[in-house]
Parts: sequence; C-alpha cells; structure tokens
Amino acid sequence: MSDIQREQRKNEHVEIAMSQSDAPQSDFDKVRFVHHSVPSINVADVDLTSTTTNLTMDYPVYINAMTGGSEWTKNINEKLAVVARETGLAMAVGSTHAALRNPRMAETFTIARQTNPNGIIFSNVGADVPVNKALEAVELLEAQALQIHVNSPQELVMPEGNREFSTWLDNIAEIVARVTVPVIVKEVGFGMSKELVNDLHQIGVNYVDVSGKGGTNFVDIENARRAQQDMSYLSSWGQSTVESLLETTAYQKSVNIFASGGLRTPLDAVKSLALGAKAVGMSRPFLNQVENNGIAHTVEYVEAFIEHIKAIMTMLNAQNIDELTHKPMVFSPELISWIEQRGLDIHRG
Ligand SMILES: Cc1cc2nc3c(=O)[nH]c(=O)nc-3n(C[C@H](O)[C@H](O)[C@H](O)COP(=O)(O)O)c2cc1C
Repeated sequence: MSDIQREQRKNEHVEIAMSQSDAPQSDFDKVRFVHHSVPSINVADVDLTSTTTNLTMDYPVYINAMTGGSEWTKNINEKLAVVARETGLAMAVGSTHAALRNPRMAETFTIARQTNPNGIIFSNVGADVPVNKALEAVELLEAQALQIHVNSPQELVMPEGNREFSTWLDNIAEIVARVTVPVIVKEVGFGMSKELVNDLHQIGVNYVDVSGKGGTNFVDIENARRAQQDMSYLSSWGQSTVESLLETTAYQKSVNIFASGGLRTPLDAVKSLALGAKAVGMSRPFLNQVENNGIAHTVEYVEAFIEHIKAIMTMLNAQNIDELTHKPMVFSPELISWIEQRGLDIHRG
C-alpha cells in the first residue's frame, strides 16, 4: 500500500466517522445509580484526579486516538492539542504507522507535542509493529504512554486489511517488556472479554482500554469502503463498553482499566468510572466538536463536561473516583443475563 493510499484511507476514516451516529440505544442506559437526596459533600470537595500505577492525570477524561498521517488530520491533531493544552486533558494521537514508515509524515503527529509541550500525550501503534518501531513511536511524541490498538474486526472488514494475527500476543509481550512508559492495549470499538484481559495480564500488560461497542463503528466504516461483498451484517459485533467493563471486574485490582467507545455524556463517564474505569476516552465527540464548532467551543464543551462530572459525583456523595466504585448500581435484566451467562462476580460496596 502506498503512502498516498494510506493518507487517503485516514481521511476516509475521519470523513465516514464524522457522518456516523451512535447506536440508537446506549448500554449506559442499562445501568442506573441509586439516588440519595442529601449529599454530605460540596461540589468543591470533589477531586477528579485519575491515579494509576505509573500515570497520574488531573482529569479522568482523555481525547482518544484518531488522527495524524495526512495534511487534514495534522490540522485536527493541532486543534485537539490546543484543546488538551487549554483544558489539561490527556490526548492520544492516531496510529503513528504513517510516520514510522515515512519520516515526512512525522510532523502530522508531532504537531500535538509542539502545540502542547507539557501535556500528557499517548502515542499509538498496531499490535504487529516491531519493538524498535514501538520505541520510536514513543520517542517521536515524547509520549507519557503508548497505546497498542487491537482491531481484528476492522482489519478483516477492511478490503486491504491485515489477515495475520497469530503473532500479535507475543509481539505485545515484547513491546511491554521493552517500552518504559505505560503500555495501554486498546480496542477500537468492539470491546474486550475477561479471557482477553487475563491473557494480557499474563504477558505483563498493566493498562487496558476496553473501547467497546456503541459509538464509532469500524465495521460500518470499513464496510462503507468496500466495493463488493457487503459485510454490514457484522455491524453489531462485539461487547458494549458497559459489558466490557463488567468483564474486567476480576482484574481491576491488577490491571488499570480505561473505558471508551460510545461514551457521550458526563453521566456515561461517571457510570464507567463507577464500573471500575480509572479514566474514560472519547474520540468522535471531540472530532465533531473541533471540526464543526471550533476550538473555543470545544474548550467550553470540555469544561462543562468536567463540571457536570463533579455535579453528578456530588449527588452520589463521591469525593473521588475510588469512592464511586462503592456506590450502588442497578443493572437491567439484559445485563444481569450477561453477568450470569459469563459467570462474572459483580459485587459492589
Ligand atoms: C476517525 C477515527 C480514527 C481512529 N483512528 C484510530 C487509530 O488510529 N488508532 C486507534 O487506536 N484508534 C483509533 N480510533 C478508535 C478510537 O480511538 C476509539 O477507540 C473509538 O472511536 C471508540 O470511541 P468513540 O465511540 O468515542 O469514537 C479512531 C476513531 C475515529 C473516530
């Protein structure tokens, strides 16, 4: 595949993603908090610090991986980096493969670091990238963490996608052993299972972003790029973000869990944190914001999002993220069925 084709593909992903809408019913609606009328804290008491084993973030919200690799997406990375700088959010860039293959593409990613020299930036590679390239991806951005995306459904629906996955797990193990910053293994919108999280934990992975179903849908995006052999019947493949978080329950003490995929409201974010996520990522909402409404509006959007998280935590009497994980939650019969059939041990309090 030529560099021009890669550049074109990234632009197509952005264009199609921006035209997508979310799943009509969000799985976040299948989880509810129990209201108590008299909180014993004030909004000012709420501390949103996200503390993980080797990474501390001021806010438990980050701009998840999307762009870089073309002129258009360099501009998007720049805008997102201004938003990250002005609000203090961490930010991931999209897959850096384009820059690792062609140094001329490097600045479409490094613009994020130039724009936000002191911010927390996650670099991003695929699970098939050689260890030396993974190290290069971290160096390129002076990144505080490296995301490795695992996206087999996307590759398989992508006409020109990868068809070889048998080396992924061993390769991830090698990268984790060599890269000195936290390595976050992330999905791209199909969610994760307890079996996968166990495998990842066994090979030394300490950070996972479950990135579940419900928001950006890469089966639909790649299917729209197929000229033949429609694969839209796979549109609802995968676990939702809520289901994925439930799947991680037994590993939440040993693996830092992040949540993304279809999170759209501050309430979705608080529910994810209460289900055990240490932080939450959003992609398409930030993309649409910067492209449709501009930087200033996006900064306001982020500030309101953070304020609303604090308001909800105040209603729940939770001063910090850890306290949220002890708040009672009620699950829909459908989720209870998932929990039972999957043998998940969900006990709160
Ligand atoms: C335009 C676009 C490009 C993306 N590119 C990448 C990528 O390069 N690497 C990656 O790990 N995830 C990528 N993702 C996936 C997101 O990081 C995230 O996992 C997914 O979009 C679900 O979150 P959302 O529903 O908030 O969009 C991309 C998403 C979008 C919308």
